[in-house]
Amino acid sequence: MDVSYLSLKNKVALVTGGSRGIGKAIALAFADAGADIVVSSRKLPALEEVAGEITAMGRRALPVAANGRHPEDLRQLIETVKEEFGRLDILVNNAATNPVMAPMIEIEETAFDVIMNTNLKGYFLLAQMAANLMIEQGKGGSILNISSLNGFTPDKGLGVYSISKAAINMLTRALALELGEYDIRVNGLAPGVIKTRFSQARWDNEEFSAQDMARTPLQRFAEPEEVARMALSMVSETASYITGQILLIDGGRSI
Ligand SMILES: NC(=O)c1ccc[n+]([C@@H]2O[C@H](COP(=O)([O-])OP(=O)(O)OC[C@H]3O[C@@H](n4cnc5c(N)ncnc54)[C@H](OP(=O)(O)O)[C@@H]3O)[C@@H](O)[C@H]2O)c1
Repeated sequence: MDVSYLSLKNKVALVTGGSRGIGKAIALAFADAGADIVVSSRKLPALEEVAGEITAMGRRALPVAANGRHPEDLRQLIETVKEEFGRLDILVNNAATNPVMAPMIEIEETAFDVIMNTNLKGYFLLAQMAANLMIEQGKGGSILNISSLNGFTPDKGLGVYSISKAAINMLTRALALELGEYDIRVNGLAPGVIKTRFSQARWDNEEFSAQDMARTPLQRFAEPEEVARMALSMVSETASYITGQILLIDGGRSI
């Protein structure tokens, strides 16, 4: 079988939340497949380390600090990509947050705003800016939104986060509908529990783990690289006729 469909040679990819966890694994997988990478998150030192790993693989890497809930940072980020690389082929919207676990009847308006502005508005604005750049270039492109199993099934204490992820699923479909004519594909990945800092309270806790395992056919949590492999498939030519889809990577938890 010809596996050159997985190649990202001569592509430029922007990965938000690329300093650790799922975003870092995606950035490294894309670099391995031949892409030059812009990694972004709030803190520069961790990004510089990831960029160093990518450069050591023989690819170009640019670390850019930007807060996903600050629209001006996102504008600046896209401008920097334009100035430094002159193009953008792939955007992975991955930087999301959940600052509090709180019941729906208690969660404060400020927390609601932080979650929605980062997870939803940040994804939307960056996708809009990236799509305009891709349209200007005229060579198509690929946008991948990292959603969550919680975008389909809420968890107690994660209600607002779940709402933001459900909205990302619709953002993915609405963008795919309008961007198809420009040969820009838009898809989503919806992970279950992946072993990162974000979900450590869950996979590192015996009681929660036992509850999750009882409902997960594959009987384990996943590593970030398992999401990264599907991310590579989704943005590469492997998925050339797939758009508007949100793929669950959850070990069967949603069955
Ligand atoms: N891990 C799971 O079990 C799981 C399950 C379902 C979905 N997800 C989704 O997967 C994605 C990645 O999560 P992860 O597990 O890899 O989390 P993680 O290890 O905590 O990494 C989060 C990344 O996002 C960046 N970030 C956080 N807030 C940001 C902001 N306001 N602006 C810009 N960057 C920000 C962080 O870097 P800085 O601190 O430098 O900003 C970091 O690079 C998220 O969309 C999450 O919702 C994760």
